[in-house]
Amino acid sequence: MARVRVEATSTQITVEGKTYDTDEWMNAPSSILSSIPRRLHLQPDHPITITRKLIESRFPAPTYQKHNTLFPIVSVAQNFDSLGFPTDHVGRSRNDTYYINKSTVLRTHTSAHQADTFRANTSEGFLISADVYRRDAIDRSHYPIFHQMEGARTWSRSAVPEGTTLARQVWDDLKTIPKHDLVVEDPNPSFHPDRNPLQSDRHSPEEAEAVATHLKRSLEDVVVTIFSAARAAAAAAARGGFSAPTSEPLKVRWVEAYFPFTSPSWELEVFWQNDWLEVLGCGVVQQRLLDSAGVPDRVGWAFGIGLERIAMLLFEIPDIRLFWSRDPRFLDQFRERVDGKITRFKEFSKYPPAPRDVAFWLPKSTAAASTPDSRNEPHSAPNPAGGLAPESASNAPASSTTTNSPSASVSSTSAPPPSTASSSTAATTHPPFHENDLTELVRATAGDLAESVTLIDAFAHPKTGRQSRCYRIVYRSLERTLTSEEVAGLHERIGRELVARWGVELR
Ligand code: PHE
Repeated sequence: MARVRVEATSTQITVEGKTYDTDEWMNAPSSILSSIPRRLHLQPDHPITITRKLIESRFPAPTYQKHNTLFPIVSVAQNFDSLGFPTDHVGRSRNDTYYINKSTVLRTHTSAHQADTFRANTSEGFLISADVYRRDAIDRSHYPIFHQMEGARTWSRSAVPEGTTLARQVWDDLKTIPKHDLVVEDPNPSFHPDRNPLQSDRHSPEEAEAVATHLKRSLEDVVVTIFSAARAAAAAAARGGFSAPTSEPLKVRWVEAYFPFTSPSWELEVFWQNDWLEVLGCGVVQQRLLDSAGVPDRVGWAFGIGLERIAMLLFEIPDIRLFWSRDPRFLDQFRERVDGKITRFKEFSKYPPAPRDVAFWLPKSTAAASTPDSRNEPHSAPNPAGGLAPESASNAPASSTTTNSPSASVSSTSAPPPSTASSSTAATTHPPFHENDLTELVRATAGDLAESVTLIDAFAHPKTGRQSRCYRIVYRSLERTLTSEEVAGLHERIGRELVARWGVELR
């Protein structure tokens, strides 16, 4: 035990030749760190790459410069501070974010590179595609590593020619975006003093209106491209290879949103297979971000889109773990094509699921920190950029999400929780149990053999007030049938670790 502690507090880690000091904040498991070199968005013929290129094709050079190899380990300043995230924002919590040390994280979104890219000021627009990392739920659409694309476009006030205005220039640029026949619902005004404010100290209403319109048209164009391809692929699959035109027009809607680094802000939703599906988050870039990036005379927009979600609907890929498969039966199905045509994924086989329940009493002291519907809520509903739910700051109870949350890391490489976090020194005291701790324990133990972790029952004992939890873990391999011994072994280990780390009592 002592030896582990000494190692943990004096350890460095090296990732692709870069060395970092770790401290008590470290909670990034080796399974995550060792996946960094995979860079699915750069693998030839990978569905994430195909999806990236399809979107990139709508943002031509030289206006939009591409940055696809930015390193995933960034500072807290880059990931949160530069974007104006409040110090108590839920996203900063060790429950949500992988820390290397107090001031260094695995980026949780591509927005982490906005300020630096604006500062470099080498193009009017940019696209950043990258792997991003979050401690999150386990299910078919959540994986602790996923991919995002960030896009931005700005105009320089000082470059506006004599006799015209910034707003007029933006309207002019709008003419180059192809027309579409989407049905667009956009019921709200471009800005609203309370709900979605204009940055009135820096932008005239005309400027904000022009930038917002340019942003919306650009993204509607992306949606037309993606969903036309998806429809063609679906029709081709349905008709044995012959695609027929679909009569119904595509429908999208703009919904007001909130991000700390844009105002006004929106999410774009697409009507897909009888449901409204959030596909991205975006807005007019906060001027204070551009000021700090040394380009105060620039005005513009930014968006963030989650690539897995788009790829899953483009190719009809049913489980997010498949993207990480090295099985040729998966990988060989995808080819980059110059005409942008998509061929739908065909399931090569379905192996049986093995559901197992684990039920336990929480230790008395930690009951408050583990309310099942607390902080996980905003993340359990997939959000547009596959990302930081814009509403998470306001919805999540602050109590369970302080930055120095004492939740233990479950990784083999990581240090104990911050020593300041726990007031107790008694050997029998455990850190509070948090749902994401279980998620990560399951990942660390079962890896990609874990398909989902779902809370199926929670109650307090009527007399003692003790909290009970029951989680269902579904084990399933995408590549073979698991034996019951194998599943039993994994499940038992998880139970044992739950007891050892959080002091729960198995029922
Ligand atoms: N970074 C945001 C997320 O992960 C998405 C976003 C990007 C929103 C750019 C606005 C502008 O959810």
